[in-house]
Amino acid sequence: MDLIKTLFLLLSVGGTLAQDALPPGPVYAVLGSNVTFNTTLGRGVSFITVSWSFSDGSELVPVVSMAGTTSHEGDDFVGRVSIDTRTGALRLGPVKQSDNGDYSVNIVDSDAVTQTGETSLRVLGECLWGGGGGVRGVSDVTCCSDSVAMATT
Ligand SMILES: *[C@@H]1O[C@H](CO)[C@@H](O)[C@H](O)[C@H]1NC(C)=O
Ligand SMILES: *[C@@H]1O[C@H](CO)[C@@H](O)[C@H](O)[C@H]1NC(C)=O
Repeated sequence: MDLIKTLFLLLSVGGTLAQDALPPGPVYAVLGSNVTFNTTLGRGVSFITVSWSFSDGSELVPVVSMAGTTSHEGDDFVGRVSIDTRTGALRLGPVKQSDNGDYSVNIVDSDAVTQTGETSLRVLGECLWGGGGGVRGVSDVTCCSDSVAMATT
């Protein structure tokens, strides 16, 4: 039974997978603020499990996952994340510079359909503080647009 369920989930991952669980990004957040990654789940659809992952470009790490009333927070996100139990939306904050990167979600909805989505978080702020805490000015603005440009490549 469990094996069949697993096979079904794997099949749905490879096959008719809904790829639009998240609205188009990126999402911008100021350093130290809270941000919500909304999902497109709604209209009476609930979820069985939801799992958020983060990648800074190298490895994929868990952010938070929830099944029923049980949730588990990834090491880098303990105490900074929560999941909207109605929509599966991820609330993250206060945002750290290291949160800059790609976020993906995997939702198994109440019809046992797997829905996935991907978006990016652009953390703004290091440049507002002048990087190393030095002089603020034109170079800070350059720094900021550089980091945004770098982050999008
Ligand atoms: C972020 O959310 C937490 C918990 O809900 C709240 O206590 C805090 O005031 C919020 N911070 C900001 C900057 O909105
Ligand atoms: C998510 O939805 C809330 C409430 O509608 C809104 O305030 C927030 O800006 C949204 N988040 C994003 C990243 O659009």
